[in-house]
Amino acid sequence: MKEHYYLDNASTTWPKPEPVYRFMDTFFRSHGVNPGRAGHTLAIEAEQMIFETRRLLAQFFGFRGDPNRVVFTQNVTDSLNIALFGLVGEGDHVVTTRVEHNSVLRPLYHLERDHGVRVTRVGADAEGYVDPDAVRDALRPRTRVVVVNHGSNVLGSVQDLPAIGAVAREAGAVFVVDTAQSAGVLPIDMDALGIDVLCFTGHKGLFGPMGIGGMIVAEGVEIRHVRVGGTGVDSISTFQPDAYPHRLEAGTGSIPGIAGLNAAQKWFADLGRTRPGAASDADHATACAHALAHIESVEVSHIRHILRALQAMSGIAVYGPRGNRPRVATLSFNVEGLPATQVSEMLDADHHVCVRAGLHCAPLVHEDQGTAGILGAVRIAPGFFTDDEDLEHALGAIAELAE
Ligand SMILES: Cc1ncc(COP(=O)(O)O)c(C=O)c1O
Repeated sequence: MKEHYYLDNASTTWPKPEPVYRFMDTFFRSHGVNPGRAGHTLAIEAEQMIFETRRLLAQFFGFRGDPNRVVFTQNVTDSLNIALFGLVGEGDHVVTTRVEHNSVLRPLYHLERDHGVRVTRVGADAEGYVDPDAVRDALRPRTRVVVVNHGSNVLGSVQDLPAIGAVAREAGAVFVVDTAQSAGVLPIDMDALGIDVLCFTGHKGLFGPMGIGGMIVAEGVEIRHVRVGGTGVDSISTFQPDAYPHRLEAGTGSIPGIAGLNAAQKWFADLGRTRPGAASDADHATACAHALAHIESVEVSHIRHILRALQAMSGIAVYGPRGNRPRVATLSFNVEGLPATQVSEMLDADHHVCVRAGLHCAPLVHEDQGTAGILGAVRIAPGFFTDDEDLEHALGAIAELAE
């Protein structure tokens, strides 16, 4: 019996790869100074680690522009706020979808209510997929931004980014993508997909700690400063510097967080270099692509196993993709006659199974799935470190409850 059967990886991945814990600890001890502020050796070395991390993430996400356009933030919520408040204003129109997380929905509700921005929210089909033609139909002459998530955190559906990106490009709109559920799991080639602003969070599939996230801003896209302050450069200037990353980074960043992302990036590359068909000296992007192919296949095979098992149980309603449509390793379900919160509490208390119940910060998905009135659903999300014992134990516990 394990102490915990952790199947809440859509909330945050846990555990992290061992080198992440180790490097965060050693780097914070050896270089826990304020980078970019002082000119001493320790500060310069800390800054070098930060720049290396920008470079690794740029390669990881297929961004071939200046790595200084990889901006660090607190998390993807922070990145999306910076992007949306910094891109649109009075009279602008934004197209988004009904499968978004509150980290997209709420900034847009505030922009609508307080700043005269108009928003169209495009619906998804019953399995959570948005039709790119519906995005096209939603465009207006003043559409400035199209913002979508890549993977749904409730259903696991993965949106057709190439097609939605093409629609945004045709309209001359800035294409903003929330990669919270897909970064570190699915290959994302920002340049090939035509993503203008790629927003990521560090603590999920990227295997970093909480409190670090970021955004990559394509060349030619300029986001207004929404937060200004100390940068350690150009201090005499009255206003925030225009150049990235300082344009969007004000105040002291998270050295331990960035160190965690740095170690995680190297862990992805090391994993990829050991995969069949990969060269042991493959460059970072190629090595990581091999790692992602492996991670995606492990995670998707876990979730398909869970889906099949839940579908075979009576008294269980499952929400999200059924067949082989593109997906991430997350799905939601309910046990007939039991509130979702009670199911998750019983799974935890009686079986040590960690899952999450509720609306998962995506209320419109629940309105569309008919689960808003019953306060949501139970979400189960295996990860790369989930093993067969976790799966069988959790499925046995759910079967017991369903009976
Ligand atoms: C699709 C999606 N967007 C945004 C977020 C917010 O992530 P964070 O809390 O790291 O900002 C999440 C996290 O649950 C998510 O799943």
